[in-house]
Formats: sequence, structure tokens, C-alpha cells
Amino acid sequence: MGIDKLLLRREPPDPYLCQPIRTDRFVLANCNLRDAIKVTAPWRADPEILENLMYGQRSYSAFAWVRSVGRPDGQTRFFHAIMPKEGGGTIGAHRLSINRSGTVSLAIVIHARSWWGKGVFEEVRRGIMDHFAVSERVTRFEGHVLARNVSSIYNYQKLGFRLVGYENKSWLSPFSETLLDTVQFEMMADDWIAQRHIKVDADDR
Ligand SMILES: CC(C)(COP(=O)(O)OP(=O)(O)OC[C@H]1O[C@@H](n2cnc3c(N)ncnc32)[C@H](O)[C@@H]1OP(=O)(O)O)[C@@H](O)C(=O)NCCC(=O)NCCS
Repeated sequence: MGIDKLLLRREPPDPYLCQPIRTDRFVLANCNLRDAIKVTAPWRADPEILENLMYGQRSYSAFAWVRSVGRPDGQTRFFHAIMPKEGGGTIGAHRLSINRSGTVSLAIVIHARSWWGKGVFEEVRRGIMDHFAVSERVTRFEGHVLARNVSSIYNYQKLGFRLVGYENKSWLSPFSETLLDTVQFEMMADDWIAQRHIKVDADDR
């Protein structure tokens, strides 16, 4: 790699992808590192969330948490704060990373339990995927969940994701120290665009 390439390694954030996303009930605000640490702080001490997101440790020091969050760069790694338009602050966060093949890994947490069972997952995911699917950086979405995470599986199926596979004893839980089954889902970006009748405007992305 030449020195020019090394110096220019960090591309600027993608102006389209960093825009805030609005759904019927929520604003999904793109987070910088400081915001990402703040909105994911409730995850750090919540065993149910850490387990469902398949974190490898039972607890994290503040420093280890910052490392695990990673830097949202507006290119490959994004965190969105989920904020109801009616007010009341942040109720959860969405994490998204795009790998070099254009595959997007997705994770969502509603840390405010009073919002569970109110269709937040579906509405937020639709908003996120509508926004990201039209980007030239994105080819495919994937989700990897514990087989016993029924509300997540319900939502992936409701959104039309394809079940890629059921993996037996594929994840060692640091909480129960047992091997748990996991499930993989995928959705091609073009299929999402067709399914949602999204008109792609090349200038917008
Ligand atoms: C997963 C999570 C985001 C779900 O969010 P949510 O907005 O409450 O989800 P929903 O409102 O769609 O509720 C779950 C749905 O699953 C259904 N469901 C839940 N348990 C069920 C069960 N045992 N059998 C059948 N359906 C079930 C509910 O009835 C509901 O469907 P409905 O809205 O049609 O009634 C939230 O529980 C959470 O933050 N969990 C911790 C982190 C996590 O697991 N993240 C997902 C990993 S990507």
C-alpha cells in the first residue's frame, strides 16, 4: 500500500447514510462515538440484552465497553438512537455494520421495557433498511439470533427475511455456560427494494 493510500485510508462519512431517519413514531438519529457509548450504556449491565446480542462476556468495564462499541465512522459502522417523536428521550438503539462484501449485520435493542410488544422492532427495521438498501455500499442484510429469541425470530420472518439455517449448539453463553442454538436470516437489498416498492434515485445516494 502506498503512502497516499495510507494517508487517505479514512474516507469521510457518507453524507447520505448519516442522515437521520424518520419513521411514523420515531426519529433514528445517527450517533457519533460519544452518543453511541451513551445510547448503548444500558446494555452493559443488562444480562438479558448482553445474552441476546451474543456478547462474549458477562460484564464489561467502562473501558472494555468503549472498545467493544467501536467507532461509528459513517462508512461501515453505525449506531442509531431510537427516539419517540412524542418525547421522553432515547428508548433503544440500533447497531449496523457493513463489511467489504456489502453485507450489513443488524442488531436492535429496546432497553425501555415499557416499549416492548409495541412493534418498535418492525418499524425501526423498516426505516433503517429502506434507508440503507438503496446505498451502493449495500448488497445484503443479515441477522444472527439465539434460537430462543422468539420476538426477534418473529420479526425477521414478518419482515420477509429468508431463514439461512439453524445452527445447533453454536454459541457458548457466558451466563449459563451452556451451548445455545442460533438462527441465521438474510435479505438481499434488491429484494427489499422490490418488496417495499422503493424508487431508487441515483443522485440521492
Ligand atoms: C427483541 C426486541 C427488540 C423486540 O422488540 P419489540 O418491539 O418489543 O418487538 P415486538 O413489539 O414486535 O414484539 C414481539 C412480537 O413477538 C411476538 N412474540 C413474543 N414472544 C412470542 C412467543 N413466545 N410466541 C409467539 N410470538 C411471540 C409478540 O406477540 C410480538 O408480536 P405482535 O406485535 O404481533 O404481538 C426487544 O425484546 C429487545 O430489545 N430485546 C433485547 C435485545 C434483543 O434481543 N435484540 C434482538 C437481537 S437482534
